[in-house]
Amino acid sequence: MSPTPFHLGWFLAGSNAQAWGRPWSGAVGRDWAKPDLYVDAVRALERACFDYVLLEDNVFVGDTYGGSMDVYLRNAVQVPRMEPLMLAPLLASATSRIGIVPTISTFAYHPYLVARTVGTLDQLSGGRAGWNMVTGSSDRAVQNYGMAAMEPHDTRYEMASEFCDLVNALWDSWEPGAVVADPESGVFVDPEKVRPVDFHGKWYASRGPLNSGPLPQGRAVLAQAGSSPRGRAFAAGYADTVVGAEGTVEGMKRFRYDVRARRAAAGGDPDTVKVLFVVTPVLGESDAEAEVREAQRAATGLALAEQTLAVTAKTTGIDFADFPLDEPLGERELTTNGSQDTLRTFVERNRGRTLREAAALSYGGTSRSLGLVGGLETVAGQLGDIMAEVGGDGFLFASPDLHRRTIAEITDGLVPVLQRRGLVRTGYSATGFRDNLLEF
Ligand SMILES: Cc1cc2nc3c(=O)[nH]c(=O)nc-3n(C[C@H](O)[C@H](O)[C@H](O)COP(=O)(O)O)c2cc1C
Repeated sequence: MSPTPFHLGWFLAGSNAQAWGRPWSGAVGRDWAKPDLYVDAVRALERACFDYVLLEDNVFVGDTYGGSMDVYLRNAVQVPRMEPLMLAPLLASATSRIGIVPTISTFAYHPYLVARTVGTLDQLSGGRAGWNMVTGSSDRAVQNYGMAAMEPHDTRYEMASEFCDLVNALWDSWEPGAVVADPESGVFVDPEKVRPVDFHGKWYASRGPLNSGPLPQGRAVLAQAGSSPRGRAFAAGYADTVVGAEGTVEGMKRFRYDVRARRAAAGGDPDTVKVLFVVTPVLGESDAEAEVREAQRAATGLALAEQTLAVTAKTTGIDFADFPLDEPLGERELTTNGSQDTLRTFVERNRGRTLREAAALSYGGTSRSLGLVGGLETVAGQLGDIMAEVGGDGFLFASPDLHRRTIAEITDGLVPVLQRRGLVRTGYSATGFRDNLLEF
């Protein structure tokens, strides 16, 4: 019996300049403000029949590490970073099938604006819009919007639920078939099929209806990374696709089981939420060559330890420059009102390691512990085995070094092997993003 195929996504680093100064980064020092790298990337991803590209984002220049912006600015760590909602239509116009998923932080937008911009993206792309719903993880970000501090972690998720209820209500304010454009009757929109929403929540309100008109998909695809229990509860209630970063097959299994169980408990169909796991494999012409490249990656990870810690500092609000780099974190009790699960996994995975070693291991994400290092056949086999064990639903490729070579290795190297093995699709069956997600 042939295996059920799995889905593919790419977690696209939100800064063109991310790999600046490293091998294979081309002319990014000169071209960072051009959309070309992203456009080339989505064309390649579509050629490889990816379900979607998720555009990472956050909305501030980091200054947590060492209490200064220096390490971020000097090394282009998540800066400069352009607005993904402006980039998204450029990517849509360069493609025809792949889903485009900009990240939008709920504190930075009003729900009406999200409903309108993402709705417009769905129209412009012919039904391929998504939205990576994030609640934010730093007071430094919300201060750019005039607020002093973020709401407490779980309150943010309560607000996110209400936010999504309102966005959905606005998208639903146009009934299917509302636009008739009938020359005979001279009616463009049937007034019976467009309604105000008159939404008055605890945090958000809107009159509606949405003035930008109905979405080809009805509602855009909602993506979420909810790793804490509260985050997963939220994702299970609203998301079409959930992305998770788990370092073990057991962890992946547990994560997917939990999200699906929560969806079922909320009265939904577990098959309507697709869980994709972040992977960053190291590929080579042969297993031996991949091992050499893995050793290089480990060396790069060590050399960039402070930059990696600066990213973790940015999302957790903890200044890791306060701790000695060459000593273990030990039993320190660290807490955050930011990304709780990021902190928990960072601390738990690295007990006994020095901070420098821990940071070096984070470079390249979860793939070390998953052992995804090898020639194309080796890694294709590993991915197939992992999916068979986990039960679904796919992988979200990511790389700390975004450049054309990284993308091509996956889209033109690995994916054809996965396709030959019947593990991923060889063509899109639908034009709409959600329909492709729901195909298997
Ligand atoms: C694969 C992945 C991608 C994410 N992308 C973003 C992002 O682009 N912007 C952002 O602010 N947070 C992002 N996050 C963080 C999540 O939105 C969330 O805050 C994090 O997983 C912690 O969840 P928790 O607070 O429920 O533990 C991402 C998380 C994961 C695992």
